[in-house]
Amino acid sequence: MKWTQKHLLGLEDYSAEEITHVLDVADGFRTIATRNDGPRDDLRGKVVVNLFFEPSTRTRTSFELAERRLGATVLNFDVGVSSTSKGETLRDTARNIAAMGIDAVVMRHGCSGAPGLLARCIEASIVNAGDGQHEHPTQGLLDIFTIRQHLGRIAGLKVAIVGDIAHSRVARSNLVGLTKLGAEVWFVGPPTLVPKAFTKLGAKVSCDLDAVLPEMDVVNMLRIQTERLDDQPFPSVREYSRLFGLDAERLKRAKPDVVVMHPGPINRGVEMAPDVADGPRSVILEQVTNGVAVRMAVLALVTGVR
Ligand code: CP
Repeated sequence: MKWTQKHLLGLEDYSAEEITHVLDVADGFRTIATRNDGPRDDLRGKVVVNLFFEPSTRTRTSFELAERRLGATVLNFDVGVSSTSKGETLRDTARNIAAMGIDAVVMRHGCSGAPGLLARCIEASIVNAGDGQHEHPTQGLLDIFTIRQHLGRIAGLKVAIVGDIAHSRVARSNLVGLTKLGAEVWFVGPPTLVPKAFTKLGAKVSCDLDAVLPEMDVVNMLRIQTERLDDQPFPSVREYSRLFGLDAERLKRAKPDVVVMHPGPINRGVEMAPDVADGPRSVILEQVTNGVAVRMAVLALVTGVR
């Protein structure tokens, strides 16, 4: 297909054909993504800036690996020692970095829409690495990639996303991407974290995990994001875990070949028991591995080298 997208701000901006193309390009990178063969030439001469205003382990590391393996010059912007701590605006920070000549910015920010703002201020390609409660599009892509790898298709699958949906950018990107590709997405959790209003976005909503679980092909468990909660939305963590946590006993209700996912970081013993996280149905570390190939594909496409 002819690629025209300069940015990746959210999967809401990508068509089903474009999402499928990213997955296909990522497939081509899969075998080389985790090999230390020395840099390729795809992004040679291109400068990529990693601009993370929130903590990250998986996303930041895998973007940097993807950039280096494609041969880019990589600049890691350290927010803690930058002039943003002296009151410089995001727009001014970005315009000053851009003035040094850059090709792409990978950005994580606590405010929904911050990468979109950047895309309107500077010429470089912007890749959203997670913005507030809006989207985490490369996480959505790598989740969909991992599902396709295991089950061979997306259309017709039933995918449950369980937990703190209200605060989750991962849930939004998964919903958008999966429904565009023809899956049925269920949001499951306490009503305080899974408002019925999500049905307007195309999700099915349930507060009964045990009732939904036997029908699902994929179960994607989310972390309770205590850093984004104002009030405790359930009586106790123990109560939450009893109703919505996935342990080996509850997993017996699921299909024998169900795919168990988690975007990380895991609260072991809260949303997922260690015997499930490390068990045979878990693809959690494969998600992390696939993140490198998916991010290589995104960077190559938005910078126009693919
Ligand atoms: N899944 C995810 O975004 O993890 P990090 O916060 O570690 O990047």
